[in-house]
Amino acid sequence: MSKIILTGDRPTGRLHVGHYVGSLKERVKLQNSGEYDEIYIMIADAQALTDNAEHPEKVRQNIMNVALDYLACGIDPEKCHIFIQSMVPELTELTFYYMNLVTVSRVQRNPTVKAEIQQRNFEASIPVGFFCYPISQAADITAFRATTVPVGEDQMPMIEQCKEIVHKFNSVYGETLTDPEIVLPSNKSCLRLPGIDGKAKMSKSLGNCIYLSDEEDVVKKKVMSMFTDPNHLRVEDPGQVEGNPVFIYLDAFCKDEYFEEFWPEYKNLDELKAHYQRGGLGDVKVKKFLNKVLQAELAPIRARRKEWEQKLPEVFAILKEGSKAAEAKAAETLQDVKAAMRINYFDDADFLN
Ligand code: TRP
Repeated sequence: MSKIILTGDRPTGRLHVGHYVGSLKERVKLQNSGEYDEIYIMIADAQALTDNAEHPEKVRQNIMNVALDYLACGIDPEKCHIFIQSMVPELTELTFYYMNLVTVSRVQRNPTVKAEIQQRNFEASIPVGFFCYPISQAADITAFRATTVPVGEDQMPMIEQCKEIVHKFNSVYGETLTDPEIVLPSNKSCLRLPGIDGKAKMSKSLGNCIYLSDEEDVVKKKVMSMFTDPNHLRVEDPGQVEGNPVFIYLDAFCKDEYFEEFWPEYKNLDELKAHYQRGGLGDVKVKKFLNKVLQAELAPIRARRKEWEQKLPEVFAILKEGSKAAEAKAAETLQDVKAAMRINYFDDADFLN
């Protein structure tokens, strides 16, 4: 069986370092492993519209932002098809058939949907399209016969729901769809990076993000303003590293080489943590180090983004080519789906009988 990756992001803003460690970095690793036969990376504009129906211009503007962030992170258009969801209308058709295999109460139990309904104050009136987006996400995944879906931890319920749809479809209509596996980052601190304010999640709407495209001075200012251990008032005080965003970021980004390069007093993060916990190590020093680490990680990404920004027509061509390849693939699957459901009337010699 071929190994195929499908993943994507909603274009509602620029991507941030939470996206990077939570999923983008993993995708680049998988891409470069050479183990995958096909890789599809989707800019999920149709899904973004499910809760931005009144702001299509916001979605439209961010398509290029997300494409640039992908390319900046090292997603290679020679190895991946980067495409725009709405340019593959087969996905909508698949969604419509899958809707019959899912109950309203099942979608209501989806914890990510539940949380999002709350965040968006949709309790009183949920747009139907928004409510159905987990089903459309199952269409996204299965249309490409994806075996592997590298995403952030928050997407786990979506993959579970997708697997249920696959099983249901295959049991009703016969083995047709591929059962996908989720791939999460192996580093626990990368699963859900907190915001710079210490809130549980880095998120545009909370305004607590470090963006991949932030300039050097902006990153520095954000790092120096980060929330740390609120009880670590004096340098001599013992500090807490658990739940301390500065240390969570170090867990996510720091490599031993960075100590050699920027802070040879310590060999590794364990030594630094031990000192912080003992007391006698000030937050400012740790933040300055984190800033150097982040700058080292982000500088090449920022530079690559600037290069691509000079070549927007090329990016446009990448998206167009990618969307064409994606549509061809999805059309094949849709044919198989309709054949399995026996609604491919004009291709079916038995239809008249
Ligand atoms: N829900 C994802 C996000 O919020 C985007 C997405 C849409 C997606 N369809 C997908 C991710 C299919 C993985 C697979 O960013």
